[in-house]
Amino acid sequence: MKAIYLDCNATQPVRPEVRRAVQPFLDDAFGNPSSLHSHGRRVRETVEEVRGRLLRALGDPKGRLIFTSGGTEADNLGVAGAARALRNKGDHLILSAVEHHAVLHAAEALAREGFRLSVLPVDSRGTVDLQALERAITPQTLLISVMHANNEVGTIQPIEEVGRIAREKGVLFHTDAVQSFSKLELNASRMPVDLISISGHKLGGLKGTGALYVRQGVRLEPLLRGGPHEQGLRAGTEGGAGIAAMGAAAEAALAERDVGGMERMKALRDRLEQGLREKLPGIELNGHPERRLPGTLNLSFSGCQGETLLMALDLAGVSVSTGSACASGSTEPSHVLEAMGLARERIAGSIRFSLGWATTAEEIEEALRRIPPVIERVRLAKKAA
Ligand SMILES: Cc1ncc(COP(=O)(O)O)c(C=O)c1O
Repeated sequence: MKAIYLDCNATQPVRPEVRRAVQPFLDDAFGNPSSLHSHGRRVRETVEEVRGRLLRALGDPKGRLIFTSGGTEADNLGVAGAARALRNKGDHLILSAVEHHAVLHAAEALAREGFRLSVLPVDSRGTVDLQALERAITPQTLLISVMHANNEVGTIQPIEEVGRIAREKGVLFHTDAVQSFSKLELNASRMPVDLISISGHKLGGLKGTGALYVRQGVRLEPLLRGGPHEQGLRAGTEGGAGIAAMGAAAEAALAERDVGGMERMKALRDRLEQGLREKLPGIELNGHPERRLPGTLNLSFSGCQGETLLMALDLAGVSVSTGSACASGSTEPSHVLEAMGLARERIAGSIRFSLGWATTAEEIEEALRRIPPVIERVRLAKKAA
């Protein structure tokens, strides 16, 4: 039985273009990019070429891009680095209740250092409350962090409005674009965003790669101390292979978007939802019905326990997730679905299907044959228990 992978918000398979881009770094392109000799210069060339390419993709070739070990480090550097650099100007940070733990936990650590936090509520579709944002800003506010699109339910946040409000008040704005980069319009020249986190493996690159975009003039306190790498903001020898991989993955993802890739993904996702609804009663959609990532489908199945379903679907060769991958393995209910105010049973029965570059129409049709009998079985077993 061929496994069907529908967990692309957790990570995507490595793209063939990435394999090709990485190969030289496993062979003779092993130099340290800080070395001045030809071996070093060869890797430096790739690092700077990818940096330039990502900055152009983000719409601000004059901005700075700091390579990190992933989206998590980019979020930590964006939030904690900015807050600590501005410590003498204020002590207040604002974030949404549905941020990834990389932002939430970074902010909680700052609270232990004496910063004050305001956590913005979201509505039942997961959209942040802009009025609450306006009310929360004080003269002490240093930074607002609101993600571009949510990893669990896919809801797209009104980041242009958030950025406009931040600008009016002279507050920095960080957005976690780990799930949205290459899928949604994101242009730092046209949009009032100062800091943007991205991650390589979500694009089909390698795990352990990411970057933080930093608008010119924005000051950051580094998290890691060491050499002067990455403009003094991230010590440590840059990983040529991972950076080349992220560059190739971003290029392929953006090219795909230009030729209707997102419409294709949305059509497959909607076919999955429609097919499940035709065969099964008791399904509710979590997240915004329209303002949502094209490949994300978070559904609650009544009378089911998400973890039980996940395991049963795994046995049927379908890989999905409950809530965020980072929270899976724990029995804590999803903080995102809780913030949306969903009933306990609806949260317990939620499953996230997420599609990516490699998902095919045949896989969706096969998933539609495999999933409904599993759900019926899990429902019957729960009823009988
Ligand atoms: C929205 C969001 N932010 C940050 C991260 C962390 O990225 P990484 O896995 O590259 O550390 C993830 C990954 O799950 C994510 O979905």
